[in-house]
Amino acid sequence: MPGDIGRERPLRQTQLNYTIWAAFSLPSNRCIIDEGSGAKERTIPVIDKEGLKSIFEFVNEVRGVDFALYRHATVTRKLELRLAETGSPDYRNYLSYLKSHPDELDKLIRALTIKVSNFFRNPLVYELLFTSVLPDLISEFGFLKIWSLGCAYGEEPYSVAILLRELLRRDRGNFDVKVLGTDIDAGAIEKGALGEFAEGELEEVKKKYLDSCFREVARQDPTVGHESVYRINNEIKSMVRLECADIVMGLEAKKKQRSKYNLILCRNVLIYMDKVLQQNILRNISDLIPVKGYLVIGESETLPSSGKDEFSQVFPGMKIFRKTA
Ligand SMILES: C[S@@+](CC[C@H](N)C(=O)[O-])C[C@H]1O[C@@H](n2cnc3c(N)ncnc32)[C@H](O)[C@@H]1O
Repeated sequence: MPGDIGRERPLRQTQLNYTIWAAFSLPSNRCIIDEGSGAKERTIPVIDKEGLKSIFEFVNEVRGVDFALYRHATVTRKLELRLAETGSPDYRNYLSYLKSHPDELDKLIRALTIKVSNFFRNPLVYELLFTSVLPDLISEFGFLKIWSLGCAYGEEPYSVAILLRELLRRDRGNFDVKVLGTDIDAGAIEKGALGEFAEGELEEVKKKYLDSCFREVARQDPTVGHESVYRINNEIKSMVRLECADIVMGLEAKKKQRSKYNLILCRNVLIYMDKVLQQNILRNISDLIPVKGYLVIGESETLPSSGKDEFSQVFPGMKIFRKTA
């Protein structure tokens, strides 16, 4: 998890150099804020339990997501950095700022969640999806309804759709294929729906997929160090729907609609949450997966003991589970 933080979207180069330099030379209660007119050093306010409770209650009321159930140390530090960034000396000031600046709520949610992702992240998982899980679903079910929970910028649902395109080829017309990706961060979903990615984000994409599923829309300019930008094609986009939704509310809504998904990916999301929330989410996920459907979680995540009666691990050492009961 801490490794993820350093891999957030890159800052502008000059700011990045300054931030890296500053991060090494600052005490832990100081930070660097980029104010547009230049980077400034600030003290990071400390937030106590009462402050956390008040702010998270407000966020929960307005957006229905309870960050009190996230790993305390991570969200506290990120919230304190929002206080510093907005120039709020304490939580009361920040709460008023939050209430009077509608865009701050999105910024806060963006700060509290970690958006690290990649196309074909952990390639072995995708290899097994391609060679075993997806062919099994294709032969077992007459439909392919797949849900990527906490999909960041859509890298995961797009990667799955790229594999499905190759597996189904001419048979696609015979299958109802839907890949849903949801994330709490509205900005990430908006960018994901645009379908444009810098080449650095596509490092794990095989050349054959880059050629067949993407188009280069902006060229590399070596003089200013810009990366090329690629746009995902309409065929892949047509299989994928991206929506902004909280994981808990999203799962409950789908349960009410009695929807079923024969593959759910919930990777590197649970790791930021406490055990109670993880168990609640996994219980709801399990209700949406029919017998013989699959669940994929992140490499460093674990299924709670209750889930072990319903799912069996398909490949030793891999977090790919098949629903058995
Ligand atoms: C580290 S990324 C993982 C992305 C992708 N699943 C992967 O493994 O590459 C975690 C994602 O979960 C999202 N997330 C965190 N809490 C969420 C919630 N309550 N509801 C929906 N998405 C959430 C974050 O915004 C972030 O995009």
